[in-house]
Amino acid sequence: MMVSHEKRSFLTTMVKWILGAVGISIAGGIGLFASFNSGEKKTREFSEEMLRKLVPDAPLHVPEASAWIYRKSSDSSLVALEDRCTHLGCRQKWNPERNLFECPCHGSEFDLSGDVKRGPASRALPKFHLIVENGTVRLTGFPQKPS
Ligand code: FES
Repeated sequence: MMVSHEKRSFLTTMVKWILGAVGISIAGGIGLFASFNSGEKKTREFSEEMLRKLVPDAPLHVPEASAWIYRKSSDSSLVALEDRCTHLGCRQKWNPERNLFECPCHGSEFDLSGDVKRGPASRALPKFHLIVENGTVRLTGFPQKPS
């Protein structure tokens, strides 16, 4: 069967466009994955004023630091936990009635110390160190990425 030059040219162009779109999609996905897994250091800071809002054992979300923070009732120490689920990285929410962090994506649950209470997540929420200097709280010890 003979295919006209115009049809062949059109088909060649379409195949190139499709391959180009697939290539761009794959490259974008790899870039997103790489930036998520690169361990690149981001600044996680917030005003010391936030610490005054803390109620013992009641986590407070600090979106600018991508963390949940709370003061332990047992010894008044500060705790900062990653606000992203260790399963696939969704933001978990604190449920005060159940005293659990709940992930809205696939149902993982974590207790106040960040330990897994229900999967599919298999790793605890990473903890940060808190450094308070000149009115700013800085979180260090960048957490592991979700598995
Ligand atoms: S991302 Fe949280 S359970 Fe899947």
